[in-house]
Amino acid sequence: MSIYITGDTHGAVEAFLKRKEKIADTLTENDKIIVCGDFGFVFRYDKVNGRYADEWKLDKLEELFPCELLFVSGNHENFDRLYALPDEKRYGGTVKKVRSSIFLLKRGEVYETEGKSFFTFGGAYSVDRPFRTENYTWWPQELPSPEEYQYAISNLQKHTHIDYIITHTCPLRIIHWMGKYADSRDAEIVGFLDWIFDTVDFRQWYFGHWHMDKGFYHDRIIACYENVYCLGETPRK
Ligand SMILES: [Fe+2]
Repeated sequence: MSIYITGDTHGAVEAFLKRKEKIADTLTENDKIIVCGDFGFVFRYDKVNGRYADEWKLDKLEELFPCELLFVSGNHENFDRLYALPDEKRYGGTVKKVRSSIFLLKRGEVYETEGKSFFTFGGAYSVDRPFRTENYTWWPQELPSPEEYQYAISNLQKHTHIDYIITHTCPLRIIHWMGKYADSRDAEIVGFLDWIFDTVDFRQWYFGHWHMDKGFYHDRIIACYENVYCLGETPRK
């Protein structure tokens, strides 16, 4: 059983399929693919014949991917739709069930699967808010609530070691290492992730958001975009 990780898919079926091609020789129904936020397949509000206009994309994913698809939230997601989904107990924590094989990994959870622990914490500030409409193409819940931060802290305090951390954006120091600009409205989340970097004993950290594939700290921290990473293996480019 393999766990694959990739970056932002932005609701693009074709782009997701290109990544699937990279692992087609080994992908099985027992595997999992984790998207590090900006999944984007639960996005539109408008309905056609009683269904959300983009639900055909979820149909396609279910049809074309043999395995489970998991994602943390990014900033480009419809949080009203995501948060209205039913909770389900899975991997030792609570997920939001999108489809029978597609699940949202919630902020602050610690999941266990295949003997490995995963801390997940999605979200980021949308720098393109001025070009978007609130509660239609961006949502305030893209940034975590005080309760979500607190939930994360209380869960982390119960664990002395985390194998894998999956987030959308990344610790502030990594933004600096990338030579990127940290928006002041992202200060709380990237500062929080920086605190996690300093205080949590973890094995490896994967994040998306920055649309690049690059390793830091001898690949202990990995920025994911179009590559597909198999836990414990070198990336498929
Ligand atoms: Fe993105």
